[in-house]
Amino acid sequence: MPERTLAIVVLGGSRGIGRAIVARALAEGHRVFAGARDERALLALQQGAAPEGAGRLGTGAVDVGDDASQRAFFGAARAFLGGIDVVVNNAAREGYGRLDEMALEEVEAIVRTNLLGVILGCRHAAQAMGDGGGHIINVGSEVSFRAVPMKSVYCATKFAVRGLSDALELELAPRGIRVSQVHPGWVDTGLHEDERRRRGSVSRPHDGGVPVERVAESVAALWRAPRAQGGAPLRLRLRSVVGELFPAWARWRTRRAFGEQLREG
Ligand SMILES: NC(=O)c1ccc[n+]([C@@H]2O[C@H](COP(=O)([O-])OP(=O)(O)OC[C@H]3O[C@@H](n4cnc5c(N)ncnc54)[C@H](OP(=O)(O)O)[C@@H]3O)[C@@H](O)[C@H]2O)c1
Repeated sequence: MPERTLAIVVLGGSRGIGRAIVARALAEGHRVFAGARDERALLALQQGAAPEGAGRLGTGAVDVGDDASQRAFFGAARAFLGGIDVVVNNAAREGYGRLDEMALEEVEAIVRTNLLGVILGCRHAAQAMGDGGGHIINVGSEVSFRAVPMKSVYCATKFAVRGLSDALELELAPRGIRVSQVHPGWVDTGLHEDERRRRGSVSRPHDGGVPVERVAESVAALWRAPRAQGGAPLRLRLRSVVGELFPAWARWRTRRAFGEQLREG
């Protein structure tokens, strides 16, 4: 058991990385309130929680891109948890395709979920935490540092989450609210379903990607840490700096890595 049990909210907690974060938090003895749109997946999450975790897990349906939905969700979270110590903004959708061919509805849904959803999640978290302190953890991606083709809208939202997190880290510090970021590499989850559907396969990295449990552990390390942390590994920061210094080389490398997708269709 940790020294102090935390009250943790996980937005996008029903599947993939979010589900692993919920499991990690429960295993550490914390109280958790998880949200997503699909109520059946939330029920399955409840049923899958270990018996000792079940009493400490609450769930609520939420569409993060809708302010009224987030307000109701945070109200339910506060009622279940008492107060809120940590909010993990993890919900996102990816989308795959050339920008000019993507349906406008899909473009809007990605921005609404990944950017407006995180902005609203931070806003409701800050309102719930007040002056009592707390910790907001925003889930970015390695594409927050290196944009890739065919996922332009997704990349744009992930770059923006980085800017939002940097700004809020400064803005909320005087109130004792920490804002951290985590930027996972490729993980084999349902996030890539659109790419799988459109291409018949997904472009996984040579090493097979990162296990969900390792991302969940990185997030847990943040809520255990005494101060806000950037959460980006040195590798990503270096890649970003090298890309700034040698943009033509960085673009050549990315173009080569994604050559197959660019030639398709
Ligand atoms: N997988 C990767 O390779 C990878 C790499 C780097 C970063 N990430 C980031 O990690 C986070 C989790 O991704 P994942 O791979 O675990 O994705 P995932 O398996 O597709 O899970 C996404 C979660 O977000 C929820 N969600 C989606 N849209 C929502 C909405 N409008 N409102 C509320 N909840 C919503 C989903 O539930 P519902 O659909 O039921 O709402 C689900 O619980 C994302 O921020 C993603 O960008 C992923």
